[in-house]
Amino acid sequence: MNSIPSPPIPAPKPSSFSPICQPRLATQAIHCGEARPEALHSMTTPLVLSSTFTFENTQALIDFMEHRVERTEEYGRYGNPTQRSTERKLAGLEGTETALLFSSGMAAVTTTLLALLQQGDHAVFTNDCYRKTRQFASTVLAKMGVAFTMAAPALDAIEAAIQPNTRLVFSESPTNPFMNVLDLQGLGAMGRRHHVCTIIDSTFATPCNQRPAEFGIDLIIHSATKYLGGHNDMLAGAVLGPAELIQAVKDYQGMLGCIPDPHSCYLLQRGIKTLPLRVRQINQSGLQLARYLEGHPRVRRVWYPGLPSHPNYALAHRQMSGFGGVVSFEIEGTLKDGGRLIDAMRIPQIAPSLGGTESLIEQPALISYYHAAPEERRKVGISDQLIRLSVGLEDPEDLIADFEQAFRSL
Ligand SMILES: Cc1ncc(COP(=O)(O)O)c(C=O)c1O
Repeated sequence: MNSIPSPPIPAPKPSSFSPICQPRLATQAIHCGEARPEALHSMTTPLVLSSTFTFENTQALIDFMEHRVERTEEYGRYGNPTQRSTERKLAGLEGTETALLFSSGMAAVTTTLLALLQQGDHAVFTNDCYRKTRQFASTVLAKMGVAFTMAAPALDAIEAAIQPNTRLVFSESPTNPFMNVLDLQGLGAMGRRHHVCTIIDSTFATPCNQRPAEFGIDLIIHSATKYLGGHNDMLAGAVLGPAELIQAVKDYQGMLGCIPDPHSCYLLQRGIKTLPLRVRQINQSGLQLARYLEGHPRVRRVWYPGLPSHPNYALAHRQMSGFGGVVSFEIEGTLKDGGRLIDAMRIPQIAPSLGGTESLIEQPALISYYHAAPEERRKVGISDQLIRLSVGLEDPEDLIADFEQAFRSL
């Protein structure tokens, strides 16, 4: 794989929108990227279940190979019309030149890193990235001979970690579970100063709450399994950015085969149509639940960037238009008390993931960090008392009433 040269990092280009895109997000989410008229005058983008695509004759095949015709479909591992239409919609919302969908968020993360890094390179990751992203760096990238530094999620720490062979900086914003927010404008400028590619996993924000490309970030990643799909019924991932960089990632996807199933693309596209509406409600409910929890005598601390008590409150207000539905909090008590509280709740379900219609609740010490050494848990601040709530689309008053009865039962 190392024989494939890493692509040059192009200068940021202005966003390109389909001519039918409207400036406001809710309209874009519904109409952007769709062909009008669709095949057979279907209102919705058809779900195309085909593993391969035919050519009328040999000349048509040669014209395709010579890029003389505007046609993207060849073989299912290189793309599918339902996938392409969903990608156009997502790029329109995120304000990037193009988008590429994957079978999962982790497929988007790992394929992007494999495409951009080669032996001898160095990469900077922020130390509170999703655990599997950090694991990929410490296992696969290390095996490939790529050096990396885990830096605190702050500009000065990231800049201090940059070396002459640093090729990229990868961070989430907001991060999980403490909702740290990174200065995206500062990060974009730093990337250009040092000629390194900047990548933001924007899963927790969605394009409704923040658009990293507007701050000069080169590539944006999403676990589309979360808010974008929004219904806890499919897995997908996405990387978005300038066409040249995305093409390099697509070349790797063609080899690795981590493509999204057309069914998932259809569900994702359907989910995205209601994204602005859902996120608006989730922002409101998230803030309401965060305020309620912060005021509860059994709660020791709450992390939510919409609360003045969050260390990144001011920055979050500058670069985000809402703060989503993830609320992390520590209770007074023990790991077992946390379990009792959760078990007494009737609405949120115990499960990993976030961003769907159903509220989910979990103790990070018992899910993502169950098998982690106590030392690692301590390093990232995962205490026994920590609980993470992903607020869904239920009525927030019902969720608060549910917490009330659960706290009373302790
Ligand atoms: C911020 C973030 N990025 C990436 C992923 C991976 O996404 P997926 O589960 O779709 O592979 C997750 C999963 O929880 C996540 O929280």
